[in-house]
Amino acid sequence: MSGIIQFLLLVSATVASEPSNPACSKYDYEEKMLERMIRMEFAFEKLGEKVEQNLNNIKDEKERFRSDVDVMKEQEERKLASLMKEVERNQSSTLNKVVTDSKNSLEQMNAAFSNIQEQIATPLVYFHAHSPQTSILSTGEVIVYKTVEANQGNGYSSTTGKFTAPVRGFYLCFMHTCTATNKIAYLQMVKDGSVLTASKQYGNGVSSCSSSQAFAWLDAWETVWVQCSTGHQNRQVYEGHPHYWTSFGGALINNVRV
Ligand SMILES: *[C@@H]1O[C@H](CO)[C@@H](O)[C@H](O)[C@H]1NC(C)=O
Repeated sequence: MSGIIQFLLLVSATVASEPSNPACSKYDYEEKMLERMIRMEFAFEKLGEKVEQNLNNIKDEKERFRSDVDVMKEQEERKLASLMKEVERNQSSTLNKVVTDSKNSLEQMNAAFSNIQEQIATPLVYFHAHSPQTSILSTGEVIVYKTVEANQGNGYSSTTGKFTAPVRGFYLCFMHTCTATNKIAYLQMVKDGSVLTASKQYGNGVSSCSSSQAFAWLDAWETVWVQCSTGHQNRQVYEGHPHYWTSFGGALINNVRV
């Protein structure tokens, strides 16, 4: 403001050298000039105040803007954090889903596998019986083995001495025949009457045993048994000797028809 005053003084000094107005006092012109100067100064002051006011307004705006920016920043940070949490949740739920899905499909596969296994697995069918009902054998006589050791599938009958296939398949059957000293046994293993295998068991001066085996394709309900091919008073088998078991047995090996 002192600059303006100096300027005013300079102006008033210059103006003072001009010819005076005769109607007024000697200093009339100067006074008027001074008055105008003061008004200008006042106006300048007002202007300054306004500028200051504006500057303050700008400062306030800036503050408001800064706080707005801070608020927005906070909001964005919160949004980002919650988005990240959601991504995390989604990832873990996706992972859970993957784990559950693969567990389910594994269980389904296991079930399907068990099903297939059941379908293709050979059922457990086997039997073993010993101790013939009679020792003296007559021609055509079916040997009835009375003591049943095993009868999985219930194919063997200790009443008839016959094995009836509970399921169709490929079987292996055996007969084990023991005779006392100088006794003879002529035996056959037959499938519904047709011979699968035949044997003569004889011990010259000793008790002895021999075995015969036969494969047989059997349909369900087809039967296998052991019979005497040639009977005689001297044609005998051991009935129930603890060391000389005369026995008959068999097992299903495969139930897939090739
Ligand atoms: C999270 O999963 C939901 C439902 O599937 C989905 O709408 C949303 O967009 C996912 N969010 C992200 C961040 O991937």
